[in-house]
Amino acid sequence: MGPPDQVIIFGASGDLTRRKLIPALSRLDSDPRPPSGFSVLGVSRSPMTDEEFRAHLARGIDADLRPAFERLAPRIFYHPADTSEPEALAALRDRLDRLPGGRESGRLFYLSLKPELFPVVVDVLGSSGLLDCWSSGCGFRRVVIEKPFGHDLESARKLNRELYRVLQEEQIYRIDHYLGKETVQNLLGFRFHNAIFEPLWNRHHVEFVEITVAETLGVENGRGGYYDGTGALRDMVQNHMLQILALIAMEPPSALVADAVRGQKVELLRALRHPLGDAGHPSLVRARYGPGTIDGKPVVGYLDEEGVAPDSETETYIALRAHIQNWRWSGVPFFLRHGKRMRERYTHVRVQFHTPPLQLFNRPPDLEAGEYERLVREGEICHSRPNVLTLRIQPEESIRLSFGVKEPGNTMNMTPANLHFDYRDHFGESTADAYERLLADALIGDQTLFLRGDEIEASWEYADAVRMTWEETDLYPILEYPAGSWGPEEAEALFGDCQGSWSRG
Ligand code: BG6
Repeated sequence: MGPPDQVIIFGASGDLTRRKLIPALSRLDSDPRPPSGFSVLGVSRSPMTDEEFRAHLARGIDADLRPAFERLAPRIFYHPADTSEPEALAALRDRLDRLPGGRESGRLFYLSLKPELFPVVVDVLGSSGLLDCWSSGCGFRRVVIEKPFGHDLESARKLNRELYRVLQEEQIYRIDHYLGKETVQNLLGFRFHNAIFEPLWNRHHVEFVEITVAETLGVENGRGGYYDGTGALRDMVQNHMLQILALIAMEPPSALVADAVRGQKVELLRALRHPLGDAGHPSLVRARYGPGTIDGKPVVGYLDEEGVAPDSETETYIALRAHIQNWRWSGVPFFLRHGKRMRERYTHVRVQFHTPPLQLFNRPPDLEAGEYERLVREGEICHSRPNVLTLRIQPEESIRLSFGVKEPGNTMNMTPANLHFDYRDHFGESTADAYERLLADALIGDQTLFLRGDEIEASWEYADAVRMTWEETDLYPILEYPAGSWGPEEAEALFGDCQGSWSRG
């Protein structure tokens, strides 16, 4: 077993450190990964002693986590510094050399900073020699980059170029916390372990796929300023939703290793297209929430949120009809929807399989068989679509397969039924947190659940294409929906006749 690793958090006085990173590191400390253990050094500009930093962190720790935190606390340290200043780095280097493991330790630099500081800090880390010797005997040197990674393709490319000046791709861990979620990882497991679904997983059998990430939260708690320059497309679609899409639609990797998995995701993302109009259906609806009610309480509209410009054009809701231009998926619409302040919070993937070739059942008693057949053929009566696979990601984690069964009695009517699997019923309460998994992987050097440079660029390319369609035309004005609703009615038009509509819970 080697010396203990060191986790160095830049931006340590911020909210993420207290709410997510320290709880995750406390849990991880009791985990055998990494086997040699670690110490933590928080770095930020606020003047604090080690003791004061520990006390600040302790205030954010839930009672059930307190014993784990208390065990880790003696190995949590604090170093006040303005890390954009090269001089400050010499003192930081000395401090790290004096922490357990010293120079022999593997070092994980976690940048929980304003995005404009990512290249600045990486640059000074590089020039001060703190990123050296990652490939020799003296322990790894890795950098974790929080989101947002750029705000469009050009800025993401620039940031990649700036990182590559001092880092190798193998040292860069770009976070998307959705990949740390158990149920998101299970999309891979479900698809590539259960061979029975593979023959069905293509344009021959799938009519469409819906991915919804609905939130009841708005942009309260001072997030308005950040969000107003960002919007739903950049905040959720470009990253989390495209990651879910990539896992659902990618080709099987040849092995469960970082480059194989990420290579397949990149291929998929590069095949994404944003058609302008598609068989008479709009391909995009964007909107923002107006005043409304959430959980029985009145809430203000987006334009009245703190930090939001009164004439803001930022979308808090987006619905898209995307296409994947490849052999497997050509012609299959992928409906993506995300909104803040919606009726319920849930994330799911719904895979709708094709209709049976003939509609043999459920004929209304007053219709002749021939007439019924004609009405179904001409779309006057919708062909039933009984087979749906729903992979629920949150809040409850489950898998549901729907099919039709014959109603008891003297008719030939079919009615919907479900096979249902619930993670909590099967495995008990889940304790794993996305950040715990991601930090563990970064410490052991597994990049599978982190984004590769070309992957980020491919997803920005699609997001930019979507944004251009509303910036360059006036076809997609921003609409409004009441907070606490299912979003604007206009979004229903993305679906084809008889294809049904967006899920509701
Ligand atoms: C973040 C977004 O990345 O993800 C937030 O910036 C969003 O706006 C959050 O609310 C959703 O994450 P989760 O894990 O709560 O679904």
